[in-house]
Amino acid sequence: MNNETHCPKRPTLLVVDDTPDNVVVLSSLLKDSYRIKVATCGPKALKIAVTGEPPDLVLLDIMMPGMDGYEVCRRLKENAALRDIPVIFLSALNEAEDKVKAFQAGGVDYVTKPFQSEEVRARVETHLKIRRLQVKLVERNKQLQQANDNLQAAHGELTRKNRQLEQLNAEKNRFLGMAAHDLRNPISAIGGYCSLFLGGILGELTDQQRQIIERVKISSKFMHQLLEDLLDISQIEAGKLELRLAPVDLAALIADNVKLNRMFAEKKQIGIKFVPRCAPPPLNLDAAKIEQVLNNLSSNAIKFSQPGTEITVELITEDDQLVIVVRDQGQGIAPHEIDKVFKPFEKTSTRSTSGEKSTGLGMAIVKKIVEGHQGKIWLESAVGVGTTFYVALPLPVPKDAPGVLSTMT
Ligand SMILES: Nc1ncnc2c1ncn2[C@@H]1O[C@H](COP(=O)(O)OP(=O)(O)OP(=O)(O)O)[C@@H](O)[C@H]1O
Ligand SMILES: [Mg+2]
Repeated sequence: MNNETHCPKRPTLLVVDDTPDNVVVLSSLLKDSYRIKVATCGPKALKIAVTGEPPDLVLLDIMMPGMDGYEVCRRLKENAALRDIPVIFLSALNEAEDKVKAFQAGGVDYVTKPFQSEEVRARVETHLKIRRLQVKLVERNKQLQQANDNLQAAHGELTRKNRQLEQLNAEKNRFLGMAAHDLRNPISAIGGYCSLFLGGILGELTDQQRQIIERVKISSKFMHQLLEDLLDISQIEAGKLELRLAPVDLAALIADNVKLNRMFAEKKQIGIKFVPRCAPPPLNLDAAKIEQVLNNLSSNAIKFSQPGTEITVELITEDDQLVIVVRDQGQGIAPHEIDKVFKPFEKTSTRSTSGEKSTGLGMAIVKKIVEGHQGKIWLESAVGVGTTFYVALPLPVPKDAPGVLSTMT
């Protein structure tokens, strides 16, 4: 049976020597483990090397008529396809100078004749192993390079897509802002005309007409608020949150706001109280925007709570910040839905308790306003127990605080 068809392919050695006896000895020494090709002079060796599959290793004599081993080795190294084949010199020349020349020509090893069979076998096997490892490393390197190229291409594509998305988002904001802006006046006009009818200036209304016009007025008010919110979010997202900062007595602002929201809470038999636990100094805030924050927090607490419950608004100091706490005893929010609360147009599965309208914009705007004041907002909630929102605002640094440099004039 033919052995070669069943064994892994044996490495091929090219034995180059002008002395036939040497060729015979080397071939018989190595033929059991390797396929042997033979050349008796330099030019023949080069011809064999470039014909068909290149050898895996060359055993090369130095002293040969015509072209010596050094020259053969140099020519092999000049050829890109053959350059990596290990060349072991076999020579009777035994001077250090000869060996140095052999290495300079590109040889990987040098065996002096007469040689020990075991030594030749061991050196051949070692250099073939090193070569196999080199091939593997080059292959692995190529794969890594390819993976790296793929990653870079994917990264480039992601960056490009991201830029496109940012542009589309900016366009959407511009469009939203324009639409909201242009619709605000006609919607206000509808509300105004409803007031004229309801005020009796345009003649007496039947009960049915009054009811319908009241409904139109409520709807136009809702639409107006929605347009205001859309305008807010599109401007804020476009980076145009304009804050008019001025010193504000936050405790007084909250007290007034709670009073205002009490009217809405009482309509649902919900209690609301303010507990100021500190009296902070005036803070540099945009009062109208902070009121917007308080209105959203209280209106949500009212919207998502049942009658008979209570809302508590507190003002506390914690480290170097002031924290507004709005706590309700409402339905709460499921833990997996909490991160929806601050996203524009997102709502959780908690529904309003009296059919109040809900667009999912309020908290997204609130978060941007709070962050615009260098503050933070977060919440804690438990289903069936209630929800607590926290708004933390930085306290002003006292002028004589240690570590603060005062300017000398
Ligand atoms: N106090 C609360 N209790 C329970 N759920 C709440 C509370 N506050 C907010 N949520 C949930 O978070 C969602 C987002 O609130 P957000 O104020 O942004 O929207 P909305 O109140 O639904 O509508 P909008 O404020 O725009 O009129 C709400 O739809 C609700 O599901
Ligand atoms: Mg809301």
